Amino acid sequence: MPATDFPNVTVIDHPLLQHKLSYIRSEETTTDNFRRLVREVAQMIAYEITRDLPTENISITTPITTFDSPVISGKKLCLVSILRAGNGMLDGMIDLLPGARVGHIGLYRDPETLEAIEYYFKLPDDIQERLVIVLDPMLATGHSAIAALDRLKESGVSSLKLACLIAAPEGVAALHAAHPDVPLWVGAVDSHLNEHGYIVPGLGDAGDRIFGTK
Ligand code: URA
Repeated sequence: MPATDFPNVTVIDHPLLQHKLSYIRSEETTTDNFRRLVREVAQMIAYEITRDLPTENISITTPITTFDSPVISGKKLCLVSILRAGNGMLDGMIDLLPGARVGHIGLYRDPETLEAIEYYFKLPDDIQERLVIVLDPMLATGHSAIAALDRLKESGVSSLKLACLIAAPEGVAALHAAHPDVPLWVGAVDSHLNEHGYIVPGLGDAGDRIFGTK
């Protein structure tokens, strides 16, 4: 899997994911197909982002014999969705990680400054003991993801990963400057941000496209 120029970034170049991402980007994709495709891509990101989870052997008895077989060990997981677009990735992640707890951080972008303003914050009580995977489909300026990661670290979380569909180079650089310890898994790193803070070519407003609000 190729890394970008930034350390700690994994661009998932699997053809299935890239194929689905192309249709996610298309303005012709309907709301129901958009949701389904985001869910499917989130499943694939879940698969890759958990690739380094530790395992331990337990004794399993098959109809034939008993042997030692691997199961996931180590920290339990928590998925943290950055509202509202992060919720579009949640179901796909939960499909693969059904035992994960879920937290929500509500942030909106001030349209003038593009700064992240928090309006909701709810995490599981034992969040400090968990590996937290933050879901933010579009890493644009990076302000929302950085603010969410700041708050999670303030809450005592020490194991963090970030999952995005598409990132802008500006967002990747800002993330790396603020949280060099947090690895990013992403479907694509696009060209640039436009003057409104949208990723080019991107997919438009992820929240509007997931929820059909425009
Ligand atoms: N948020 C989005 O939904 N899309 C972008 O292109 C940038 C931020």
